[in-house]
Amino acid sequence: MGRLRMPGDKSISHRAAIIAAMARGQTRIANFSTSADCASTLSCLKELGVKIERQSTQVTIDGVGLDGFREPRGALDCGNSGSTMRMLAGVLASQDFVSELTGDAALCSRPMNRIVEPLTMMGARIESTDGHAPLRIIGSGMLKPISYVMPVASAQVKTCILLAGLCADGRTEVIEAWNSTRDHTERMLKWFGVPVLRNEVRHDNPHLGSISVTGASRLKARNGVVPGDMSAATFFVAAAAALPGSALTIHEVGLNPTRATIVDTLCELGVDALAIPNFYRLTSVDFNEPFGDIEVTGNPRFVPNQRGRSNALSGKRIPKLIDELPMMAVLGTQFPDGLTIRDAAELRVKETDRIAATVQNLRAMGAEVEEHDDGMTIKGRVKLSGAKINSYGDHRIAMAFSIAALIADGESEIAGVECVSVSCPEFYELLESVVKR
Ligand code: S3P
Repeated sequence: MGRLRMPGDKSISHRAAIIAAMARGQTRIANFSTSADCASTLSCLKELGVKIERQSTQVTIDGVGLDGFREPRGALDCGNSGSTMRMLAGVLASQDFVSELTGDAALCSRPMNRIVEPLTMMGARIESTDGHAPLRIIGSGMLKPISYVMPVASAQVKTCILLAGLCADGRTEVIEAWNSTRDHTERMLKWFGVPVLRNEVRHDNPHLGSISVTGASRLKARNGVVPGDMSAATFFVAAAAALPGSALTIHEVGLNPTRATIVDTLCELGVDALAIPNFYRLTSVDFNEPFGDIEVTGNPRFVPNQRGRSNALSGKRIPKLIDELPMMAVLGTQFPDGLTIRDAAELRVKETDRIAATVQNLRAMGAEVEEHDDGMTIKGRVKLSGAKINSYGDHRIAMAFSIAALIADGESEIAGVECVSVSCPEFYELLESVVKR
């Protein structure tokens, strides 16, 4: 039986650091993510005058309050991290100084109009190059509250607007399909004492929900432990599921339902996985995030359970498992009926075009895949063959195809695996510790 513990969740670590910086007082964050992305967030915050001490995965942040940030001396480098750029833009929109957010070539090619538009409505001035970073943010002091219907289902955009809303003159409301994106920010804001209102508003179809915050809410520093990263865990769950005779337990991983949708989905598709919430900790769940253990047994017959209506993933669940889709596509080649992924056009604007990268690499390994604008259809029960794989500099492509290489016959060579450090630097070390030779 293999046992693993994942590094701290990347999404929760970004939010803990940024919101702790906006609070007054000192916050200690334990099990902070080891990812390069979260290191980018910390270094930008330091450039903004926040005192941060880090010892391995323990991070201490001396919050400066909503208006205590300092004008940075140069451009803020967000590296490869879309979360850093989009969330910090929400904080910077209300500062009474000018700042610039930039990043690597991949980040500077990702769409930023999705945050420029609502922040401009709130009164910030933002200069971009055709909707791309670098972003020059001319903060406006007090912002105007808005009620904003999100055109894309994105937790990063929702977070950007809610963080800006903390410095708006009144109540800022974000409207999205009810329960459709990760809710780490709402949970984190409540942990720091900010009232967050959530309402289901029944329009036509689909049901919409609104999340709102009121400006000038006071944030109070509060310590917490970050749960293990569910998205990183998915690669190990998939490997254990596909390799017969495996038994793997992953301890203390985040089980927030807007994030652990992947576990239910895998079960529906015939993966023998069980999520066991940690009931002892339920009364004092850190950062308001539930967590527990996941047990997986390798049984690659993949007989879908009763809830597994079809071998298609689409609709409202897609944003909640968006980061897990490259791994799901690889696993799809092993399912009896294959797998179809639709409504996932957002994959094309991640760290790379993840639809194109997945299709190309799967085909190189002998899979039959049809590419769609918003997804792909993958034929099942295919024996993958080792091949030359390109990560396209995208951490999730590198990790998904490392697991594909384990499942495949023959040797694979994956170019550019250093990029795993973007979310999980210890990925290969963890994999070696549980894979029997
Ligand atoms: C994230 C939200 C998702 C996800 C990203 C992390 C977050 O992005 O792909 O890796 O922490 O809010 P979108 O908000 O663009 O969907």
